[in-house]
Amino acid sequence: MKLCSARDFDSFCSEASMSNTMRRMRKNMFLLLVFYFLYLWESQVAEGANVSYDRRAILINGKRRILISGSIHYPRSTPQMWPDLIQKAKNGGLDVIQTYVFWNGHEPSPGQYYFEGRYDLVQFIKLVAKAGLYVHLRIGPYVCAEWNFGGFPIWLKYVPDMVFRTDNEPFKAAMKKFTEKVVHLMKEENLFHPQGGPIILTQIENEYELVEFEVGDAGKAYANWSAQMAVNLGTDVPWVMCKQGDAPHPIINTCNGFYCENFSPNQNYKPKMWTEAWTGWLLNFGGPAPYRPVEDLAFAVTRFIQNNGAYINYYMFHGGTNFGRTAGGPFIATSYDYDALIDEYGLAREPKYSHLRALHKAIRLCEPALVSANPIRMPLGKNQEAHVFDTQSGTCAAFLANYDPNYFVNVTFRNRKYGLLPWSITILPDCQEPSFNTARVGAPSINVKMEPAKKFSWHSYTEKVPSTHDKSSFESTGLLEQLNVTRDASDYLWYTTEVDIRADDAFIRNGNLPVLHVSSAGHALQVFINGQLSGTAYGGSENPKLTFSGQVKLIAGINKISLLSITVGLPNVGLHFETWDAGILGPVKLEGLNGSLWNDLSQWKWSYKIGVEGETLRLYSFKGSSSVKWAQGSFVPKKKALTWYKTTFDSAEGKDPLALDMSSMGKGQIWINGQSIGRYWPSYKASGSCNKCRYTGTYHEKKCLRGCGEASQKWYHVPCSWLHPKGNLLVVFEEQGGDPSGISLLRRTIQKNS
Ligand code: GAL
Repeated sequence: MKLCSARDFDSFCSEASMSNTMRRMRKNMFLLLVFYFLYLWESQVAEGANVSYDRRAILINGKRRILISGSIHYPRSTPQMWPDLIQKAKNGGLDVIQTYVFWNGHEPSPGQYYFEGRYDLVQFIKLVAKAGLYVHLRIGPYVCAEWNFGGFPIWLKYVPDMVFRTDNEPFKAAMKKFTEKVVHLMKEENLFHPQGGPIILTQIENEYELVEFEVGDAGKAYANWSAQMAVNLGTDVPWVMCKQGDAPHPIINTCNGFYCENFSPNQNYKPKMWTEAWTGWLLNFGGPAPYRPVEDLAFAVTRFIQNNGAYINYYMFHGGTNFGRTAGGPFIATSYDYDALIDEYGLAREPKYSHLRALHKAIRLCEPALVSANPIRMPLGKNQEAHVFDTQSGTCAAFLANYDPNYFVNVTFRNRKYGLLPWSITILPDCQEPSFNTARVGAPSINVKMEPAKKFSWHSYTEKVPSTHDKSSFESTGLLEQLNVTRDASDYLWYTTEVDIRADDAFIRNGNLPVLHVSSAGHALQVFINGQLSGTAYGGSENPKLTFSGQVKLIAGINKISLLSITVGLPNVGLHFETWDAGILGPVKLEGLNGSLWNDLSQWKWSYKIGVEGETLRLYSFKGSSSVKWAQGSFVPKKKALTWYKTTFDSAEGKDPLALDMSSMGKGQIWINGQSIGRYWPSYKASGSCNKCRYTGTYHEKKCLRGCGEASQKWYHVPCSWLHPKGNLLVVFEEQGGDPSGISLLRRTIQKNS
């Protein structure tokens, strides 16, 4: 090959270099064109991409849309699960993914932000964009959501003069700072629709109207301030306030509930939106599992759409898992399955998912008529009516509704006969041919199995009840409120005191043991006398307060009374988060000393220790677990309180989702490879009435329940991405006493029934 130099400029070289120059010029031209088109495209995005609304609908880039949305809360699954969940949303006919933003996950201590792992909000939103869907970002930052402390970071409670969710300067300053932080982050990443991103809607506060009247004038002022603060952030997409009848212009007030067909926004120029169509309901420890028949959910959604509904969001599309200590409450379970369209494990729940997908297809067919016609409502019978969207351009869609919960009814519409199932709506996208009936479920149901994949062999370490002189304890006179002490760094707080019993005390002679009475603001309590478990007590989701009364085996001399107070998720609903309390507020009394006298211990000297020893030692981590000596084989105890169990195991074969069956255990927490799966509590049995449930008639959260008398939650989701192929560390902390030999790893499989 001939090399060309500056001196050696023969014809070949000059030809070659000529064509090189031409090639370069062509390349440059090409690049210029690419840049020009990119510029044009970008400026079009910036100019053309906008979101607005009118009385009929949200308009995206000037086009009215009937939007179907679904909630996926990003920290309730893993980043590895997100693409599939989002794809399932897309395949299921959704246009929008809705999520709250979880303040306490993002700002665990003031000014220290965390947006990684399960909290990588930007990544989550980018994945939604990649799938071609939109995002509705509910910043809150109060979110409720059965999430610990309603999403508020606990440190907020300790900011001086803090009063939550009202016209209070410290609260407003913190709320504004975090809201700005989120909006700026979204802007930096170009995630708002006018910037070319997927976010078309945002939300400020959450259902504030429910408490606004209780707060009075300050509540009204706060609601207006929130609205103004949000609008001033210039997101260039509409803001909504859910359940906020007085939401000021331009904020759209929206509906949440099991049904929203009769809702109207507060101004007739705003569209009718349903931000939370509840697909099921939440699960409490101690409660049965609620479910909602898909026929009724489809009926509710269709009823909303036929009544001019413009946006509906399934709360939840995928509920997921309250990993770690993120569950709110108190007593919200670790599973946040919610009977959603996609189950906790990420599998389509059938026939719910496919039946609603068919509904979305039918709605899509009706969309041109829905967004441009003035609907007519006409009676078809006593309890039957038609909603007709007939446009001038000739497109026509009709909905034939039978509200009767008991009877199948034949109706005539435009000279054709239609048979309508009870409590159902038939959709005619062309005003003639039925394409969908809400109660006629064609989609196959499935058979879900939890198949055993592995048993474990355990090592154990039983903690000692701390002494009053424990070096990490401190003393104080009287009983202290738990959160003030723990700042929610742990579920556990030890309250320890000593009682000196005289050898001649009457009960020593007559054998009638004294009775200990403990009153606690919640949520659970274990009583140890001289290091031995003497009893447990716990509140419930309706009332977290508890009292313990039980005989205690005191002996002559010094006795140690150790009370382990345990929180089970902080409240997520309402007002006055600054005043929520937990733990043993008293009185604590001993009855029967010195011949039936009462002794009030409440003002005695108490010693306090935050957390249990294994937490301090981080026994759940590879490193920490090697800091103590573990018992093995026959020395591993059963039914022993305060016991840590550990095992290592290789991952199960295959790609099926995994769970741990914890039914043989009492109450505690689980970790895999150092990450917390969450709280478990299978010994808390579900009370309630689990009668057979019909889809017809008005639904409410107590109507359809499963599992009465059984553990509220016995299976605990283990995300596959948390596992290595070999040598996984599984650690369980058992508070009350359980049998680890009954724990097994399960594989969740599904089979379609034809
Ligand atoms: C709503 C609230 C949601 C969630 C739901 C119950 O009122 O806005 O955040 O808590 O109730 O699951």
